[in-house]
Amino acid sequence: MYTIKHNELSAEEFILLWETVWGPGPSLEQTRLAMEHTIFRVSVFDGDKIIAMARMIGDMGLDYYIKDVIVRPEYQGKGIGRLLIEELLKFVNDNGICNTGVVVELCAEPDKIPFYQKFGFDANEAQRLKMMYQVK
Ligand SMILES: CC(C)(COP(=O)(O)OP(=O)(O)OC[C@H]1O[C@@H](n2cnc3c(N)ncnc32)[C@H](O)[C@@H]1OP(=O)(O)O)[C@@H](O)C(=O)NCCC(=O)NCCS
Repeated sequence: MYTIKHNELSAEEFILLWETVWGPGPSLEQTRLAMEHTIFRVSVFDGDKIIAMARMIGDMGLDYYIKDVIVRPEYQGKGIGRLLIEELLKFVNDNGICNTGVVVELCAEPDKIPFYQKFGFDANEAQRLKMMYQVK
């Protein structure tokens, strides 16, 4: 059986999981700062092995943004991605102001859009603008 943990995901675990799917991860220093300022982290364990994570950044009142949804490749297709998204949406439901609408956003590669559509997400005509800003 899997264990679900809230707000315990460490920078080291984050980098480890990132590297199972996306190649070399970010620095430990940057990741520690990011974990500290993330409003909700969910991680899933099989025994003592971390097998999935997702996190949410945002302002709690109006906007929530889903980041870094990752299931270890050998554990994909078993419902763990669904579990992650349901945990994130439960967090929004538990923390948002009752009877108000809040925006929940994310950015997905085209082949992952059908996965997110299962939970009610849909693409609009807005384009994602991005740059790698060099901090001096
Ligand atoms: C995307 C990802 C999180 C999905 O996790 P998963 O554990 O494999 O997904 P689940 O098994 O929970 O699937 C849930 C449902 O989505 C469907 N699904 C999963 N991936 C899909 C895809 N790429 N396209 C269409 N449907 C998909 C499943 O068939 C399942 O459908 P069902 O509930 O109707 O049976 C996982 O593939 C992953 O970590 N990929 C690598 C990292 C990544 O790209 N993350 C997304 C960043 S935007």
